[in-house]
Amino acid sequence: MHITGSILVTGGAGFIGSHTVVELLAAGREVVVLDNFCNAKPSVLPRIRTLAGRDFTFQEGDVCDKGTLESVFRKHDIGAVIHFAGLKAVGESTRLPLDYYRNNLSGTIGLLETMQAFGCRNLVFSSSATVYGDPAEVPIRESFPLSATNPYGRSKLMVEDLCRDLAASEAGWRIALLRYFNPVGAHPSGLLGEDPQGIPNNLMPYLLQVAAGQRPFLEVFGQDYPTPDGSGVRDYLHVVDLAKGHLAALGALHGLQGAVPINLGTGKGYSVLEMIQALERTVGHPIPWRFGPRRPGDIAQCYADPTRAQELLGWRAVLDLDCMCRDGWNWQQSGAVAQI
Ligand code: WQD
Repeated sequence: MHITGSILVTGGAGFIGSHTVVELLAAGREVVVLDNFCNAKPSVLPRIRTLAGRDFTFQEGDVCDKGTLESVFRKHDIGAVIHFAGLKAVGESTRLPLDYYRNNLSGTIGLLETMQAFGCRNLVFSSSATVYGDPAEVPIRESFPLSATNPYGRSKLMVEDLCRDLAASEAGWRIALLRYFNPVGAHPSGLLGEDPQGIPNNLMPYLLQVAAGQRPFLEVFGQDYPTPDGSGVRDYLHVVDLAKGHLAALGALHGLQGAVPINLGTGKGYSVLEMIQALERTVGHPIPWRFGPRRPGDIAQCYADPTRAQELLGWRAVLDLDCMCRDGWNWQQSGAVAQI
């Protein structure tokens, strides 16, 4: 049966979370956001309300604090949870593994225990294509072998395994394990977008800062990968498409049994050099870059076979690369993003 009640969105002030909350509100859902602002700013909240033209409940707090979780479930009739809250920087995870396991794994265990205690067994989990490790071939299907090469990826894989075991132990769990490929872009309004603290780890926010003259050049990590132009190939998808994928997953949960992994990607791969050229078309000027050595832990190619998302969720990505660049650039110039 379809999900009634409020939707709890943990990490709902973050990059993907905030875009998802806007889509949930626009669809008429009642939403409760829990966020500790460890990777988001309070200024996002009024922008979400402005975009959606509706209010939602906000609870500042840490998903690792079971008292806070229990208080949220006591105050609200939570019908389902979309769980974004967690740490997500690959490099940082190798330096601070305990932080990653405590936040990503223990935090999720506490959430699942609280959901169980309050009789809520509907979950959409923010997983990642990183659980495929270095795939033997592309495009990647959900049935491919899983592995991890860093504590961040391992924490995502461990949560997936945890969800599979939980669903096998107790009837009634409906869990969508959404494996994101590479989210980029921003809300077309320029009010929401990726606002990384410090030096961006990911390609697109760094490239946007170079394009805006905030950094001297982009270093392309590797030119000798077995790819068409030697640089790394990834499946970049617009964050608004990704947000709509969460809405589709929520709507399809009643038809799922147990924990079901689903790729959220476009099915098309672009190289780093193609991304630079795409953004240059948008900004209208060359963007300085140079080749550097491979980044440890990087893989050559990673892009999705998105068939299952289409079949199970009736979802596919529709926004193209130029739209990702245009909305990302609009956000970069909006002034809302932290000027370094
Ligand atoms: C993309 C491509 C780099 C920066 C990671 C996580 C994944 C998810 C998304 C959380 C690669 C190249 C990058 C730069 C470069 N995160 N690059 N110069 O590594 O595919 O995925 O972020 O869920 O789990 O693993 O994304 O944006 O870091 O890199 O050449 O300054 O850009 O080598 O080919 P990645 P990315």
